[in-house]
Amino acid sequence: MAYRTGRVEGKVAIVTGAGSTPGPGIGTGKATAVALAREGASVLLVDVAPERAELTRELIEESGGKAAVFAGDLTKAADAEAMVRTAVDTFGTLDILVNNIGRAAVGTVVDTEEADWDRTFDINLRTAFLASKYSVPVMAEKGAGSIVNISSISALRGDGTIAYSAAKGALQAMTVDMAYSHGRQGIRVNAVAPGHITTPMVLSVSAPGSRAEFMNTMRSEAGLLGTPGDGWDVAWAAAFLASDEARWITGVTLPVESGVLTVTPLMMAPHLRGVPEPAE
Ligand SMILES: NC(=O)c1ccc[n+]([C@@H]2O[C@H](COP(=O)([O-])OP(=O)(O)OC[C@H]3O[C@@H](n4cnc5c(N)ncnc54)[C@H](O)[C@@H]3O)[C@@H](O)[C@H]2O)c1
Repeated sequence: MAYRTGRVEGKVAIVTGAGSTPGPGIGTGKATAVALAREGASVLLVDVAPERAELTRELIEESGGKAAVFAGDLTKAADAEAMVRTAVDTFGTLDILVNNIGRAAVGTVVDTEEADWDRTFDINLRTAFLASKYSVPVMAEKGAGSIVNISSISALRGDGTIAYSAAKGALQAMTVDMAYSHGRQGIRVNAVAPGHITTPMVLSVSAPGSRAEFMNTMRSEAGLLGTPGDGWDVAWAAAFLASDEARWITGVTLPVESGVLTVTPLMMAPHLRGVPEPAE
C-alpha cells in the first residue's frame, strides 16, 4: 500500500496525539500521521503515551515513510516548546501542525465537576494553544505553514458533553482568530469537525453488549450515507487542508460527518425505523 501522490512531498509535519487508544480500528491522529507520511511528509509523532506513537512510526516506516516519536504531555508549555524544537532539529523545519489531541467527557452543566471541566479544557484546547504558540513563529519566519485543528460536531450540536462541547467550540473560535492573525504571515488555519466516527477510543468507553452494538449501528444510520466513518475519513480531510491543494482555504471548519448536520431528526425517522432498539 505504499502509494504516494505527493500532496505534501518534502514537508515536515507535527501530529499531536499521533498514537491511538489500543483496540480495533484506528484513531484520527494515527491515521492522519500515516496519511501525511504516505503523501510525502516527514512526521513527528507526538503522544503522552509514546508506546502508542511507536506503533504509528512502525506503520509509517513499513511503507517507506519517515517519522520520529516525541514523548510529551502537551498540556505543559515546556513539552510543547521542546516538541517544536525537536521537529526542527530532526527534520530541518516545520510546515504542518495537526492539533489532534482530545477526549470527550459526558456531563451536563449541573453535574460536571470543576476539575473535570478544567481537565477537559486542558486536553482539548490548551494542548492546541500551546502547540500553536510555539509552531507559529517557526512558520511565520519562513512565511508559510498550515495548521489543522481536530474539533468535533459536538461544538455545533447538543449532546450532553458540556465541557467537551465548549472546549471544541472554543477550538473553532481559535481557528478563526489564528487564521485572522497569521494569514499575512502565510499561515493557514482550519479545522475538521468529525461526526459519529468509530475509533478504538469510542469503542473503549462502551461495555460490549447489545446496547453498544445498537449505538455502533446508529453511528452509521444517523448520517445521510448510512455507512460507518472512521479515523481515515478525518485523516484525508486533514491531509487535504494541510496540503497546498488547499492554499486558498483558511479559517474554515470542514465537517466530516456523513451529512448529519444537514438533516433534521424528523426527516431521518423513516430510515431509523428499521433499527430496533434493544430492550436492555
Ligand atoms: N472518536 C470520535 O468519535 C471523535 C469524534 C469527534 C471528534 N474526535 C476528536 O478526534 C481526536 C482524536 O480522537 P481519537 O478517538 O482518535 O482518540 P485517541 O484517544 O485514540 O487518540 C488520542 C491520542 O492523544 C494522546 N494524548 C492524550 N492526551 C495527551 C496529552 N496531554 N499530550 C500528548 N498526547 C496526548 C493519547 O495518548 C492518544 O494516543 C480528538 O480530538 C477527539 O476529540 C473524535
